[in-house]
Amino acid sequence: MIRLAHFSDVHLTAPSLGWRVRDLFGKRASGWVNVRVLGRGHRFQHANAVVAALLREFHERPLDYLIFSGDATTMAFETEMTEAAHRLGVWDATLPPCVAVPGNHDLYTYGSVRRRVFEFAFSAWQRGERADPDHTYPFATKVGHVWLIAVNSATANFWPWDATGRVGSAQLERLRVLCDRLGPGPRIVVSHYPLLTRERKPEARWHRLKDWKRTRDMAAKCGVHLWLHGHKHAWYILPAGDHQPFHSVCVGSSAQTKLWGYHEYMIDGTELKGLRRVYDPATERFTDRQTFALELGGG
Ligand SMILES: [Fe+2]
Ligand SMILES: [Fe+2]
Repeated sequence: MIRLAHFSDVHLTAPSLGWRVRDLFGKRASGWVNVRVLGRGHRFQHANAVVAALLREFHERPLDYLIFSGDATTMAFETEMTEAAHRLGVWDATLPPCVAVPGNHDLYTYGSVRRRVFEFAFSAWQRGERADPDHTYPFATKVGHVWLIAVNSATANFWPWDATGRVGSAQLERLRVLCDRLGPGPRIVVSHYPLLTRERKPEARWHRLKDWKRTRDMAAKCGVHLWLHGHKHAWYILPAGDHQPFHSVCVGSSAQTKLWGYHEYMIDGTELKGLRRVYDPATERFTDRQTFALELGGG
């Protein structure tokens, strides 16, 4: 039996961001409006306290591994990324190990992708087997009898309203090669984007994973049993069914006010028992909210 904790979309920031002139004419200008005018900053005003409580949980509870499905920051400034990695305990050797993938906010600008801002700050959470050592994604790590497979579905985007993602054909091919090499055991993908909404439909045009169909088909071919993700800030579960032949779980945002929560997954053989724990601002602790179960057999 193994025990995992899954968290996502903490959207941390730093007191001093390090603006440069070119940021004023790029995607970060609209990001700033989103934070200061449209309420994102307000929705995440308690994020530091929630993340501190989350880390206390990860220290105290009997966990084998952590899973982080992206959006550590707000606009992928290097100052934000360093602060987020510090607050999340990326270099804290007393925490359980973790698998992490970036969200679209961690690859917010083309410069942040080119400078590998996320990958440098979170390298301790990106250890595993790779099909091609020259490419960070995908990578896989075995926890007990279970494979965790990290797939990057986030990209930088030019337009302020564009929050789309893409895995890309080259990464999908590496995923195929990697999965061919993995031994037996349930296969769980960790990625930022969902394939489908809670209505089992692709997301809105400017928010979706553009190559969701090809990604879904490759994941199915790779024998994936479960797709763990964030990006949507309200949590939901999709059991295997129409348009998606494997289960998926969206943990939602772990730090957005009133949506705050994380999941524990206890996996015994092919049986997964999930527990959702939510933050209580009065006690600054997480409490049990809901349980669920999924069968990871087949495939
Ligand atoms: Fe997010
Ligand atoms: Fe996102």
